[in-house]
Amino acid sequence: MPALLHIDTSVDGERSRTRRLTAALADAWRARGPEYTVVARDLHLDPPPVMTASAQHWPERLRGGELLEAGVAAAQAAAIDELLAADAVVIGVPMYNYAMPATLKAWIDLVHVPGVTAPFDVDAQPLAGRAAVLIGARGGSDEDGGFAHALGSLELTLREGFGMDTRVVTTSRTLAHRVPELGPQLAADEFEAASARARALGASL
Ligand SMILES: Cc1cc2nc3c(=O)[nH]c(=O)nc-3n(C[C@H](O)[C@H](O)[C@H](O)COP(=O)(O)O)c2cc1C
Repeated sequence: MPALLHIDTSVDGERSRTRRLTAALADAWRARGPEYTVVARDLHLDPPPVMTASAQHWPERLRGGELLEAGVAAAQAAAIDELLAADAVVIGVPMYNYAMPATLKAWIDLVHVPGVTAPFDVDAQPLAGRAAVLIGARGGSDEDGGFAHALGSLELTLREGFGMDTRVVTTSRTLAHRVPELGPQLAADEFEAASARARALGASL
């Protein structure tokens, strides 16, 4: 039963480009047959706890006796279990102030645990080789290279930390309807190309 973990983070609903693109990938995944299942996780509607203690970053054996609040430990175990149950992951990443959404950073801070999901004192990399797709959207053009900044640390965590086979799909100029200088046709063409890429990945990962 190949399982896709479908993560959305946009604060917007229907008009969100990343939501439309992650949905296109998930639909193509489902279309491969009834055994291709999808688990949806909406970090905007159901935000993970923001990290408040460094103990969260470590497994119990490396916490030096520091305690982790029981609710946080339970949220962390659930998030890691959900991630480890997935054969592939797609994550929608709207750009907010040149960065990933705070809810997604909080999720990464929960699931990136050296010695458990990434190598540290032991060579743990249980997600090695599994597919991950980051789908980025931004309102402006990417002439300033902002995607490299907003997606860069995520790519490093997934690719180098988790060892996942990580791809990136982006669409820019999404505010062209409000700022015509961005080029509505360029924006539409880019979104169509990103949709085609998302569908192709969902059909082939
Ligand atoms: C709080 C906030 C900050 C934003 N910051 C940027 C930014 O730094 N650069 C940019 O190009 N667009 C920025 N945008 C525009 C979004 O990236 C754009 O609307 C994008 O399409 C959001 O993804 P979504 O369509 O999936 O919601 C920002 C939007 C919001 C709401």
